[in-house]
Amino acid sequence: MSVTTPSWWQTAVVYQVYIRSFADGNGDGIGDVAGMRARLPYLSQLGVDAIWINPWYPSPMADAGYDVADYRDIEPSYGTLDEAQALIAEAHALGLRVLLDIVPNHTSDEHAWFRAALAGEPGTRQRYHFRTGRGVDGELPPNNWQSVFGGPAWTRIGDAPGSPWYLHLFAPGQPDLNWDNDEVRSEFEDILAFWFDRGVDGFRIDVAHGLVKEAGLPDEEDVLDTAQTLVEHREGHPAWDQDGVHEVYRGWRAVAQRYSPERIFIAEAWVPSNERLARYLRPDELHTAFQFDFLRAPWRAELLRAVVDDAIAGAATVGAPPTWVLSNHDVTRTVTRFSRSQPTHLVGTDWERGRWGDEDPDHILGRKRARAAALLQLALPGTAYVYQGEELALEEIEDLPDEVRQDPTWSQSGFTDVGRDGCRIPLPWNATSAPYGFAPDDGAATWLPQPAHWAEHSVEAQDRDPDSTLNLYRSALRLRHSLWRDAGDVKWLDVGPEVAAFERGGVQCWVNTGETDVRLPEVATVALSSVRAVDRLLPPDAAAWLTFAEPTE
Ligand code: GLC
Ligand code: CA
Repeated sequence: MSVTTPSWWQTAVVYQVYIRSFADGNGDGIGDVAGMRARLPYLSQLGVDAIWINPWYPSPMADAGYDVADYRDIEPSYGTLDEAQALIAEAHALGLRVLLDIVPNHTSDEHAWFRAALAGEPGTRQRYHFRTGRGVDGELPPNNWQSVFGGPAWTRIGDAPGSPWYLHLFAPGQPDLNWDNDEVRSEFEDILAFWFDRGVDGFRIDVAHGLVKEAGLPDEEDVLDTAQTLVEHREGHPAWDQDGVHEVYRGWRAVAQRYSPERIFIAEAWVPSNERLARYLRPDELHTAFQFDFLRAPWRAELLRAVVDDAIAGAATVGAPPTWVLSNHDVTRTVTRFSRSQPTHLVGTDWERGRWGDEDPDHILGRKRARAAALLQLALPGTAYVYQGEELALEEIEDLPDEVRQDPTWSQSGFTDVGRDGCRIPLPWNATSAPYGFAPDDGAATWLPQPAHWAEHSVEAQDRDPDSTLNLYRSALRLRHSLWRDAGDVKWLDVGPEVAAFERGGVQCWVNTGETDVRLPEVATVALSSVRAVDRLLPPDAAAWLTFAEPTE
């Protein structure tokens, strides 16, 4: 049997830096490149292999930077291109790979292309989807598509009879590009090369299943009365997951292959099945794709087992590594998702972005489960993503005052969906009061307010506490290299319905989602556990990694 060493991206742990909320270098209350540079040693000591930086391009911030005005520069409030290049070099010097976020489905309405299109410059409107409306004077949207953030997916550019509409699957400030236009295709291949030439190791592709729309933009068949959420992109919808999108990624793969080492891609694709997801991962397309079932799986062993098996099997059909995500900047933080009664089924259209039920959250319970989930995530084969603040076990801030909310979901939903601000609160680094070292000056206001009790969760406080979640992550990331990274396939152990326990290469991971203690094998050594004292008994809502002096088979 030939043994090949996996490429870095097949086993990497990637830390997601939500730049706006990571660290503020200049004291305006907004995270920036200078803040990130100062905190790179923290990330290297944490033990991750790479960072993925959410969009840092110039943007009017209609959607927190996912509305890009210029793909070849840095948002001025975040810094400069020179600083960005310095960051890439410094990260590399610390052994961290750098992934950026590319937003190809739409630009900002302040992008030069869209401005030219609005001004009616010849040949510029076909880069987007402009259409005449329905009704006598074209006063009705051209089709019945709804925006992901709420309301129609069309905005009209004037009231005069016959004024056209443009398509935006997200906010009105995010006009969708027309990917049937060759100019759009070559522009993005050029943008990729621009950053690859600057040393960037790869891209996370935003809404990778968007881009190509069904020809003629036909009505969708059954319109929901509420907006579809991000994850509800249903099979057969003419806006999503069209076969034509794959040709785009074949072109991108060819760009990545011009570089040595090859640059890599990770797709954000909310598609209805693992079969559909695997199509993005065919050998001449993208390297990896987020598998989002894990992030919407309730805290129940049988569901976790099923999700893990499905994800691995789906990726294996095309020889891709599976990916594991517990949370990101679009969903309820893991601690809070696990802090309420858990659904009994894998969540689909009743997803609610992980905000399950109206019970008061039990954050102590949620933290136990989040810690255990981290050990599960980091023991699995493939790649893992850690969203900033997960390593601090931060909870979702669910009681932000309405007037500080920034997510366009809030207004576009007619103030019914509070949106995603609660998982985007600036990180607490040290100090006893806000901004907890996020910004250099005491008392500085941050772009979203931090809660009054976050001193206890700060990096500094957790650094001192050997049992903190931060130190659990550090230990887990270090041990992952020796115990799990190249350990082989998952073999489930039959140890009870409420336990997800498996072995990989002679090492075992046990996760107890039930309500009673679980007895661990006598001969095992507990290499790491999510609770302090594991003496043969694994308590509820805990996980442990076990090693054995003798081979178990
Ligand atoms: C992706 C991003 C999300 C953004 C949307 C539109 O889903 O993760 O934050 O709002 O795309 O670009
Ligand atoms: Ca700043």
